[in-house]
Amino acid sequence: MNSSTRIDDLVQCMTLEEKLGQLNMLSAAGDSIRTSENAALVDAVRHGQAGSVLNLVGAQALKDTQDIALNETRLGIPLLFCFDVVHGYRTIFPIPLGEAASFDPDLWKRTAQCAAREASADGIGLTFAPMIDVCRDPRWGRIAEGPGEDQWLASIFARAKVEGFQGEDHDLQRADKLAATAKHIGAYGAVTAGRDYASVDISEHSLHDIYLPPFKAAVEAGVAAIMPAFVDLAGIPISAHRALLTALVREQWHFDGVYISDYHAIAELINHGIARDLTHAAALALHAGMDIDMMSYAYINHLPQALAQGLISQDEIDQAVRRVLTLKEKLGLFDNPYRLTPHTMPNEESRALAREAAQKSIVLLKNDANILPLSPTGGRCLIVNTREDITSDALGSWSGAGETHDVRDFETSLRAALPARDIRYITAPDQNHFDAVRKELNHAAVALIIVGEKREQSGEAASRAHPKLSEYETALIKIVREQNLPCIVMINSGRPLIIESAYDDADALLACWFLGIESGPALADVLTGRVDATGRLPISWPRAIGQIPIFYGQKPSGRPYNAQDVFTSKYIDESNQPAFVFGHGLSYTEFSLSDLSCTRHNDRINVEVRLKNIGAREGTQTLFLFLHHASTERARPYLQLRDFTKCTLKKDEEQLISFTLDEHHFAQYDDHDDVIFESGLYDIYVGTKADFNHLLSCQITIDRQLNILSFTPNT
Ligand code: BGC
Repeated sequence: MNSSTRIDDLVQCMTLEEKLGQLNMLSAAGDSIRTSENAALVDAVRHGQAGSVLNLVGAQALKDTQDIALNETRLGIPLLFCFDVVHGYRTIFPIPLGEAASFDPDLWKRTAQCAAREASADGIGLTFAPMIDVCRDPRWGRIAEGPGEDQWLASIFARAKVEGFQGEDHDLQRADKLAATAKHIGAYGAVTAGRDYASVDISEHSLHDIYLPPFKAAVEAGVAAIMPAFVDLAGIPISAHRALLTALVREQWHFDGVYISDYHAIAELINHGIARDLTHAAALALHAGMDIDMMSYAYINHLPQALAQGLISQDEIDQAVRRVLTLKEKLGLFDNPYRLTPHTMPNEESRALAREAAQKSIVLLKNDANILPLSPTGGRCLIVNTREDITSDALGSWSGAGETHDVRDFETSLRAALPARDIRYITAPDQNHFDAVRKELNHAAVALIIVGEKREQSGEAASRAHPKLSEYETALIKIVREQNLPCIVMINSGRPLIIESAYDDADALLACWFLGIESGPALADVLTGRVDATGRLPISWPRAIGQIPIFYGQKPSGRPYNAQDVFTSKYIDESNQPAFVFGHGLSYTEFSLSDLSCTRHNDRINVEVRLKNIGAREGTQTLFLFLHHASTERARPYLQLRDFTKCTLKKDEEQLISFTLDEHHFAQYDDHDDVIFESGLYDIYVGTKADFNHLLSCQITIDRQLNILSFTPNT
């Protein structure tokens, strides 16, 4: 690692305690350091025993704390302030799983830029984001925090977020940039049975080909920090996984940033059963490559003993200290320790962005008889809301600096969007309201039912064995069905929810996630058709819990599904298909797809397809390109996402859409993280979702130079 003279000089004159202070990250509480809760933190800062602080909110609190570090410690090394700016700081955007549904990398970047501008205006230097854990198990509550089931999508999401937070030029000294943290490396999304903090045991191949690529993408994009997952991988806790953290990521991928432990994770090495005590835990983590200890007090209190016992070397401590100081230097903290730049938040611009992001995240799952969009005139619209805290729920998990009073609500927004319609809004949180709902239905022309999770039902420590609509919600939807009223069901959630009979009972269904502060206007925009419904699922929605884990990238079976043959891969009591597949999502118009072709052009393969808007209005379609390697030593999934694009077309308009493929689109990772590129026979699919009925296909044979040796259209 190259370090500056300033850092060399500092490291030379630091005592062991001062060095360990730099490796110690402490948590604060709230927006003032003058509370009794923060007394220990202030004391630690004053004695140079903290190098970074998390969870402190508000410019004044950060300034007060920084003053202590600068003026009352011997060396005056500035603190680094960190925060979980996961989907916005004060301007809260849709949760990441929702935002992923936009399939819009430019949007992903812009929302990260806005979050960085706001957080750094308050003095924050580093965010614990992006969370890029691929996850195929909706029982895991943290699925809400990431971009879904697909590694290609997650890699693009990772790059966009890192570039958004840090800026493409990586000049972190700019007042509107944040250092990003890719988290949580180590296949956290594959926890056993979707139970948070449980063990992970997956193949080397899945690790390298599915779970690690987004982290590699983040490293290639220059991410400043990485947070290892709480869990163990085949028995080795990631916080002590030297082969992963150092041998692979540092040495092979050339990651030169900082590893930050997860909260208390180093101390938990004792619970994992691999550390005897905190001294041993501290030594294992440091030796594995962990630079910063978040809230275990293992480094600050126990590394001196580990050093004395010869469990670690002075050089290992110094290297970690240099990395931390280098990050502070990159952020410009030695020259501009406060980073404060007054900024109004949210403001008109950030609200417009939040509205755009929310609009693009909503997924129209079902729309029988084109019941949506709602027409500007007609009988009464009855909104039945089943959740009492719907406004604060809109903020979703990890929205610590968000304010409920910033949220613009749905009822007001729909009234504004449909001034000529009679809108009636009731809250009906349980079955005691059935009669009231029935009465209201007598006067309604259409019912909009808001169901789903409360914000605390997804996120960290919110695994669910029953990720589905409640019996009450299902019964409520049935009541509307029985009255023969058009029924629109809006599902708020941080995960795919199993919807059982609502699948048939609702005329229209929308995945509304937790959409952030512009949730109301965005929902009104989509429901009234002011904008098209453009979101597409980044994650499969199961029909039944027994199907989990469910994802589109299935490998072939020796006994593929065959309805007529008992001994084939299927359930005897449920279909193999999800309720809604990856990529699913309807528009308010129809599109046709034709003329798939494949040519070689400038050492690349050009795939073209004709998209036409054959419906009644302008609309936006998302097209996915999947590959399947048909002749290979290792069986590959039937479909592997390799590109996606969006296209807006006017009524009757058509466009030739092209995808350009080079070697990296055909690349796979082997068990040792080596990239392999195999020549041979490939199926290429282009279409609107991961479902063969919605894909056009052709077959090509390529050689190692990407020459197309054969082409078979329309396979
Ligand atoms: C979570 C991390 C988060 C950290 C700090 C932990 O509990 O796992 O994702 O960044 O807390 O808030």
